[in-house]
Amino acid sequence: MSFRNYIKRLEDQDQLVIVDNPVSCTYEMSAVLKKLEPRPVIFAQPREVNFRVVGNLFPNKAAFADYFNLPTGEIIPTLSRAIENRSAPQIVSAAACQEVVIADPDLDQLPILRHFAGDGGRYITSGVVISKHPQYGQNLDFHRCMQFSSKEMAMRVVAGRNFDTFLNDLGEMEVALCVGCPPNVLAAAATSVEIGIDELTIANALEALEVVQAKTVDLLVPAEAEFVLEGRVFAHRRHAEGPFVDLTETRDVIRREPVFEIQTITHRGDAIWQALLPGGLEHKLLMGMPREPTIYQRVNQVVRCLDVNVNPGGCSWLHAVVQIDKQSPEDGIKAIQAAFAGHSSCKHVFIVDKDIDIYNPLEVEWAMATRFQGDEDLFVKEKERGSSLDPSAELGSHLTTKIGFDLTKPLGEDAKPFEKVDYPEVDLERFLEEGG
Ligand SMILES: Cc1cc2nc3c(=O)[nH]c(=O)nc-3n(C[C@H](O)[C@H](O)[C@H](O)COP(=O)(O)O)c2cc1C
Repeated sequence: MSFRNYIKRLEDQDQLVIVDNPVSCTYEMSAVLKKLEPRPVIFAQPREVNFRVVGNLFPNKAAFADYFNLPTGEIIPTLSRAIENRSAPQIVSAAACQEVVIADPDLDQLPILRHFAGDGGRYITSGVVISKHPQYGQNLDFHRCMQFSSKEMAMRVVAGRNFDTFLNDLGEMEVALCVGCPPNVLAAAATSVEIGIDELTIANALEALEVVQAKTVDLLVPAEAEFVLEGRVFAHRRHAEGPFVDLTETRDVIRREPVFEIQTITHRGDAIWQALLPGGLEHKLLMGMPREPTIYQRVNQVVRCLDVNVNPGGCSWLHAVVQIDKQSPEDGIKAIQAAFAGHSSCKHVFIVDKDIDIYNPLEVEWAMATRFQGDEDLFVKEKERGSSLDPSAELGSHLTTKIGFDLTKPLGEDAKPFEKVDYPEVDLERFLEEGG
């Protein structure tokens, strides 16, 4: 299903909020998206330009599962299978994303949002960046881009990403920044897989995908994308990028980042722009969810892992709640170590038993209150390299203290005092019926 078919489905199911009044791309759209979160919203009349803008499409796992017609618990196995059983998308010669070709583009003609007062500029946050290396082939990543002229943007490239490796190797390279991608492409682009794996093959394993040769760069792009911005990125031509409100809803600092020069824009005739609210639930879901299969796989190598939630309370990046089927006393500590190996940016890991609902923070806290002793069940790793997103990590080095909490109960007879007792069953009708 394409991006727009999904929007149509949301509309048919009465889930889409349609804003018919004119709304500005500067501050107003981001404010409305936040107020209406988690409801999907379409702005039919942006004040500044003629393209419609949509946001809050995938604010939680339930929305993502609904798109793929899966129960929520099947997301991790489905993503894991897609990463393992990759397959090449079909190449087509004509595509909707190229219905309009603009040879002399002007970024001011696009509905690029300015999200917060104090931001460094207008930001594209939903763009999937496709690049290519002669040895490794194509790669997909998300990179936020801040506009600073009618044809130039500063692209945030975190050190160590595959894109960073490509750019450092090549000095400059062709890229295609795709906005309004189908959800299989969004999910695949957010995965962190071995260098040399084209994430479009993961997207195709999630759901059949067509790709087309871009017009002016040698790259294959999703045929159903709404917009494709083609151009070049330069490792040594840099521009200030930021401030930007990131996943943690705190402000990221200003850095000098590579320049992306746009040479051609292609789009659908009536293209719809995708807004992705920085620090919003959708941003969090796309960051955190693809880490869950990697944590799941690593934990499963040492103990029986049942489910993983990289939860929004932990910014969908810094915390992981891991549910295990505990078989031996050391399983908790083994699971903690494996979880950190599966997501190196994670700061706090919580291991719980199968009777705890990992999607309910109250239950996780209950397990902490009743099954945890700080001197026995705490695992501390001091001064480890952590996430660049964590404002509490050491500035520059990102060194941080990582902690694992084993919130599991003991095994066998010793478990009895830790088991939650069920309230007596009752047939309420008997007591609440009129005249009863
Ligand atoms: C919505 C979203 C925005 C992101 N923004 C950036 C960014 O601006 N810069 C960056 O380097 N990584 C960003 N990331 C993270 C990378 O895209 C992501 O970790 C990617 O999977 C790394 O891929 P790689 O293994 O191919 O390097 C973002 C991820 C998401 C989901």
